[in-house]
Amino acid sequence: MLDVNDLWVSYGGISAVRGIRVTVEPGSLVALIGSNGAGKSTTLNAIAGLTRPRSGTVTFRGENVTGWTTHNLVRAGLVLVPEGRMVAAPLSVRENLQQARYSKRLSSGEFTDRYDQAMTLFPVLGKRSSQVAGSLSGGEQQMLALARALLTGPDLLLLDEPSMGLAPVMVDAVFDAIRTIHTDGMTILLVEQNAELAMDLCDQAIVMQRGELITSGQPDDLLSDGSLRSMFLS
Ligand SMILES: Nc1ncnc2c1ncn2[C@@H]1O[C@H](COP(=O)(O)OP(=O)(O)OP(=O)(O)O)[C@@H](O)[C@H]1O
Ligand SMILES: [Mg+2]
Repeated sequence: MLDVNDLWVSYGGISAVRGIRVTVEPGSLVALIGSNGAGKSTTLNAIAGLTRPRSGTVTFRGENVTGWTTHNLVRAGLVLVPEGRMVAAPLSVRENLQQARYSKRLSSGEFTDRYDQAMTLFPVLGKRSSQVAGSLSGGEQQMLALARALLTGPDLLLLDEPSMGLAPVMVDAVFDAIRTIHTDGMTILLVEQNAELAMDLCDQAIVMQRGELITSGQPDDLLSDGSLRSMFLS
């Protein structure tokens, strides 16, 4: 589904991402973990067209999409839910979700079907459909951002720190939803600082440090390595 090869991204003269490789098989959930400033968001942003890589290639469903705009990537089926959620605060829940309709040019029937599916997954959003997004709790805003991404009908979902700043009960609710979305077949690349949560959910984990990939593998194998374990779960 996704192949990122030898990705380098710089801000000015500083290389934030140095030769990262990521492979995401169809239907799998891959977690990208690492401490603050490791380059996780930069990697996702470069894949999703928000940041231009200095070099390297991004291949999505067999096509070289390196340097594509975010808009074209969404239309191709690759969607990012960015760090900090970025919902449109003055717009209602329903209006936020309608944005997905225009970015993917959905017919009203397609939109209604997907809207109803999203409301089944996130009943709280249905109850608050006319409330402005800025008045939702952080967890509800995260659900809205996830729902909006799902409404575009993606083949690959990139999630950047969905647990950030949420109360524990909301973290559980958001991760339950991610688990359900994945179980229903969605391919996901998840960035998460809470390594324990990420390791519990993923099929494969990639560990980054200071812009570099330091190891990758199945969560059980990574967790059985004592030095890595102490690093993740400190
Ligand atoms: N827009 C920017 N301009 C300059 N430097 C940046 C910019 N965005 C990120 N950086 C730097 O690039 C490095 C990687 O940042 P990035 O946000 O990708 O890390 P991260 O792993 O997502 O961290 P966090 O867990 O804090 O979200 C950091 O040193 C950061 O300061
Ligand atoms: Mg980040």
